[in-house]
Amino acid sequence: MSAVAPTPGSALAVSVHTVCLTINGRRLSIEVEAWVTLLDLLRERLDLIGTKKGCDHGQCGACTVLVDGRRINSCLTLAVMQDGKEITTVEGLAQGEVLHPLQRAFIEHDAFQCGYCTPGQLCSAVGLLNEGQARNRDQVRELMSGNICRCCAYPQITDAVMSVLQGEEQDGGGASIQPWIPGTVPG
Ligand code: FES
Ligand code: FES
Repeated sequence: MSAVAPTPGSALAVSVHTVCLTINGRRLSIEVEAWVTLLDLLRERLDLIGTKKGCDHGQCGACTVLVDGRRINSCLTLAVMQDGKEITTVEGLAQGEVLHPLQRAFIEHDAFQCGYCTPGQLCSAVGLLNEGQARNRDQVRELMSGNICRCCAYPQITDAVMSVLQGEEQDGGGASIQPWIPGTVPG
């Protein structure tokens, strides 16, 4: 649905659309201008600032989120294009107080320094594991190559992803978690 609304302080009219999104399990109906990116909607209007803006041009992966379980650069898509979709951001990965296995693995393997790239790395890694294409370190590196880490924590990031891929991480009770099952996106 769309409507025309005046721009504040301007005689020009702008096109405003109503989009329905399920974000981290919460269903929302939002009025948004046609040019607003999903990234800006998340950060600037919904205060979900875990998703980071790095380049704003699809070059760094800091803005990676999951749309219907698939990873995308949220700076490269308009919010109105995602009408009806399920969005998972880094804020939606944990189940309450229980961290996602990849979050635990990143901590365990010291897979960040400044942490700016980490939300995007985590969402990208969830998407990667869901895709079921990565089987070894080289494939993890290749398929995560769109996520830049300026702190060069790549070896530790790869260690963390591999540990979940291979089911080596321990859960909170000390039991080994199961290897990742493609198609099981939390949140
Ligand atoms: Fe989207 Fe860099 S901010 S890819
Ligand atoms: Fe600093 Fe990746 S941890 S950019």
